Amino acid sequence: IPLVVVVPAAGVGKRMKANCPKQYLKINQKSILEHTVSRLSSHPMIKKIIIALSHEDEYFSETRLSENSKVMVVDGGKERVDSVLAGLAVIDPHEFPWVLVHDAARPCLTLNDLNHLIEACLSNDKGGILASPVRDTMKQGCNGVIEQTIDRENLWHALTPQMYPTLQLKAAIERALSAQAIITDEASAIEFTGEVSQLISSSSENIKITQPDDLALAEFILNKQSK
Ligand code: CTP
Ligand code: MG
Repeated sequence: IPLVVVVPAAGVGKRMKANCPKQYLKINQKSILEHTVSRLSSHPMIKKIIIALSHEDEYFSETRLSENSKVMVVDGGKERVDSVLAGLAVIDPHEFPWVLVHDAARPCLTLNDLNHLIEACLSNDKGGILASPVRDTMKQGCNGVIEQTIDRENLWHALTPQMYPTLQLKAAIERALSAQAIITDEASAIEFTGEVSQLISSSSENIKITQPDDLALAEFILNKQSK
C-alpha cells in the first residue's frame, strides 16, 4: 500500500536561536530538511511527501527539493497542528488510506525504525508512534521542590513519525481543535477522541534538533549512520 508523509516545516526555530529557521541549517553541506526528506524518500512504500512551509519561507527555493518528484509543498499555519492539517487537507484518503507525520527537525530517523512503525500499524490495523522509554528517574515538581517520583516504567518520549489512518487522524485533529484541546503531536489528538495509539520503541538516534547543542549531535549521528 502506498504511503504519504506530511512534514511540518513551517516553524521559526525560536529555541535554536539561529539566523534562519533551523530546518535550513546545514549539516555536511545539506540542509536539515533535505536530510529528512531524502531519508523518507528512500523508503519504497513512501510515494508522496507533503512539506508544509511558512508563507514567508525564503529558503526552500534554495534547496533542490522541488526536483524530487515525490515532493509537494503546502502553506503551513500558526501552530504545528495547523501545518499538519494543511498537509492532510490535500491528501486523497482513497489513494492514501494511511498517513505518516514526521518533523522536519528529525533528520536522523533510521529506516529500521520507520519499518518497525509501518509494520506495526499495518499488521495491527492501528495507528502508532515512535517513542523512546524514559531513562532517568522522573520527579514531579512544584515551585522548585519535589512533590513525588513518577514511575518511569510507563513513561515515554513521543517522537515522530506518527502514523494513522488518514481519515481517523483528520477527524481527530478537527474534533480536538474545535474543543480547544492542547495538541502537540498527532497522538494527542487521537488520545482526545479516546482511540488507541501503539507505542513503537525507537532508537535514541531519532533526536529532534531543538537547541544549538543538538546540531553537533545530529552531525555525529548522521556521520555514524553513513558509515
Ligand atoms: N512546525 C510547523 N509549523 C509551525 C510550528 C512548527 O510546521 N507553526 C514544525 C517545525 O518546523 C518542526 C516541527 O514542527 O519541524 C517540530 O516543531 P519544533 O521543534 O517546535 O520547531 P519550531 O517550532 O520551529 O521551534 P521552536 O518551538 O523552538 O520555535
Ligand atoms: Mg515549536
